[in-house]
This record gives sequence, structure tokens and C-alpha cells, in this order.
Amino acid sequence: MLIVGNWKAYVEDAGKAKKLFALAKRLASGNQVSIVLAPSAPFLGLLTPKNRSKVAFAAQDISAMTGGAHTGEISAQAYAAMGATYVIIGHSERREGGETDEIVARKLEHALAHGLTPILCVGERQRDPEGKYLAFVRGQIERSLAALSPKERSKVIVAYEPLWAIGKTSEEAIAPTELSEMALYLRKVLAELLPGKSAARAKILYGGSVDPENARALAGGGSIDGFLVARASVESERFSALVKALA
Ligand code: PGA
Repeated sequence: MLIVGNWKAYVEDAGKAKKLFALAKRLASGNQVSIVLAPSAPFLGLLTPKNRSKVAFAAQDISAMTGGAHTGEISAQAYAAMGATYVIIGHSERREGGETDEIVARKLEHALAHGLTPILCVGERQRDPEGKYLAFVRGQIERSLAALSPKERSKVIVAYEPLWAIGKTSEEAIAPTELSEMALYLRKVLAELLPGKSAARAKILYGGSVDPENARALAGGGSIDGFLVARASVESERFSALVKALA
């Protein structure tokens, strides 16, 4: 299982960042899980130089531009130089700010060009009885991967994060059967876009109100490869319980 802890802007002091990192290191060494932490840029820069552990780091986003006269932007190359190996791209909170599938596609290219493994977030705002949301998610994936070579496409991790399930309670998260159905659908879409048999090996994560209470049931069907977790990753006890529930 791959557990990606997206700290968002929840962690705002260095002491807390260091504590959460120390916990992640302990959890990663004692359990059969892979842990990836996605701190904000300053804390990623603080933590990666001291990292000799199994914990890996993700950027929460990257610039759609390469280096140059772009004040405030952080390029894929800069993150890679600091030791990030993953990057979250197209999170719904970035899309809220105007990020389109075309921008997402550009960011995927930059990430791959610098050896970062992209975690591509997709997901519908709401579900409709006619199932139009399926075509919506398919469209997000198709437009995001369109410009990539077959080999590049097979390196992308897809994180399915329905907006209606983000930031809620564990009861309001997706039901395990709904998640298995969606994972099946996503693999079908990927089978059309990825070369050979690589869709079967593609990593699919789920995100949206994952916590120690529902994680095991959501992972139970074996349809997904891990989770993208925000709130439950920034509270030590909850994160520890979450990892142990999945180990
Ligand atoms: P949450 O957020 O775990 O706090 O629901 C998930 C996400 O936005 O990635």
C-alpha cells in the first residue's frame, strides 16, 4: 500500500513538520507500507536533506512553467533538486483556482522530464443518476495524458478524489463497493490509453475523508493501491492508526 500524506497548508511550523516526519520514518520502517509525504515547499526543503529513510517526498504542485522570470513559481526541476520524487498534480483545490486539464497536461510533462512521478488527481464534483460523472472523469484523464508518450503515461499514478468526499467525515466518504466499481472503470479507461498490459499494473489511489476507521474497508476489495490522505496525515495519532490499519 502506498500512503501519500498531503499536508496541504495544515502544517505551518517547523517543529510540527519535524515531528510528523520522525513519526513517518518510524512507521515506514516497521510496517509493510510505502509512505510519501507532501509538505509545503519550505518544509520539503527542510526535511529532505536529512532523509536517509524509506519515506519519500512529493511536491504538492509544480509550476506549469520551466525556470526563468516567473516570480513565486517553483519548477519541477527545483523540486527534483531538493529530493522530491513525486508530485501531486491537478488537485481539486488547484483546479478551483482555475487549473485546467491543459495546464495539468503541461505539468505532467515537466514532472516526467525531471524524473518526478506524477500523482494525477481526478474526480467529479457530484454524482448523477445517469452516470455522466464517469464520462467527466474519463475526459479529465484523456486530456491530461494526451500529449504524453505511451511510456510516460504508464508512469502516472491516478488518484481518484471525488470532490463530494473530500474534507468530510468517514461516513460520508465513498463506500467500498462504489470505490471498487470506480477502480474497475478507471482501469478500463487506462487500458485504452496505456501501452500493452501496463494498465493492470497502473497505480490507482483513492482520496477523500480517509481515516483509521474506514481505510481497511476501502482497501479491502484490493481494487486500489493506496490512499491520498490530508487531515488524517497531519495528526500524529490518526496517522499512526491509519498506517497500522493498512499494514
Ligand atoms: P481529506 O482530503 O483527507 O482531508 O479529506 C483529501 C484530499 O484533499 O486530498
